[in-house]
Amino acid sequence: MSHPIHTVTHIDAGSHARCGLLSLPHGTIETPAFMPVGTNGTVKGIYHEKVEQMGYRLILGNTYHLYLRPGCDVLESFGGLHAFSSWKHNILTDSGGFQVFSLSKLRKIKDAGVTFQSHIDGSRHAFTPEKVVDIQTIIGSDIAMVLDVCTPPDIDYRAAQEAWRVTKLWAERSLIRRDENGEKFRGCLFGIVQGNFFKELRKESAETISAMDFPGIAIGGLSVGETPDRFSDFLAYTTEMVTPEKPRYVMGIGSPDYILDAVANGIDLFDCVLATRTARHGLLFSDDGPVNITKAIHEFSSEPVEPTCGCTACTQYSRGYIRHLFKAGEMLGPMLATEHNLMYLHTLMERIKNAIKNNSFSVFRKEYLARYYGEKK
Ligand code: GUN
Ligand code: ZN
Repeated sequence: MSHPIHTVTHIDAGSHARCGLLSLPHGTIETPAFMPVGTNGTVKGIYHEKVEQMGYRLILGNTYHLYLRPGCDVLESFGGLHAFSSWKHNILTDSGGFQVFSLSKLRKIKDAGVTFQSHIDGSRHAFTPEKVVDIQTIIGSDIAMVLDVCTPPDIDYRAAQEAWRVTKLWAERSLIRRDENGEKFRGCLFGIVQGNFFKELRKESAETISAMDFPGIAIGGLSVGETPDRFSDFLAYTTEMVTPEKPRYVMGIGSPDYILDAVANGIDLFDCVLATRTARHGLLFSDDGPVNITKAIHEFSSEPVEPTCGCTACTQYSRGYIRHLFKAGEMLGPMLATEHNLMYLHTLMERIKNAIKNNSFSVFRKEYLARYYGEKK
């Protein structure tokens, strides 16, 4: 059996929110934690050093992208992604399950695996659950994810059932390959719950994946275009059925409101490209909701984006100047915005952990959201 890697240190008195310590090969991290996304082995627009200085100790990479470019031969010759990219802390890699379905062309799923065409040059490739574990072994992932079948929100029951059948089969084979790889695989392999938007399938999937020999459990197939109410409903329903003994990770969420929802349900980890992607388009997080810095109202503003934020953008520059950078197409604009959004989320996680430890998470959430959505009277 996999040894436990997550210790719950405190549970909020008024919700399922919990604080804990997650022990990984490159150090222990406090949960709940947001993980910045570094698809190609870099968090876009920011030095690893800054990400580290902010306090992040676990970032993402993508098996799909890294396998296509630079490729396993390059990664292997450098001794893995940590050495290649000079990131000293933990790395989680997504399996490619989601990316194959969202980015590649002409994908075909069989029990054996999935074949697809690269979104970069159209070249043909095949992923099997075993191969994906092997690639993540070469990458040197601290948390590796199993290959899964991620489905859109509008499919029927039979299609959802079939996707879950294959996901389960692949999860079993992934565990076998992990064990075959022995000492070479040094990370923690997480299972992924699917089941689309059918409660019966979600229940079966959550219970089955929880009972398998994974040290951590991810909830997949959410935030795939469904309404916020449906997301919230299925997140609560599914999380409750995932064992509390293991760290719980909800994949692909990262706006303050969704983070608060996830934490309230007892989620420990989440990741999303939203913070860094929208930053590059001039959307900056603030306690008063997202600020579109490109708007004309900021032209003459000498105010910081968020006065309580300690990032370079907020401590050294005005809204007016940052707007100018975006308007002039200067790369410093997206860089400052990226640093700000990551700093903002890191600080938000600190505030959330404090609220949990003080048993006041529900009050914090209510007050935070009232301001975030603009107090409607
Ligand atoms: N990222 C966001 N959602 C998912 C999912 O369902 N599966 C995987 N592998 N990655 C994701
Ligand atoms: Zn800032």
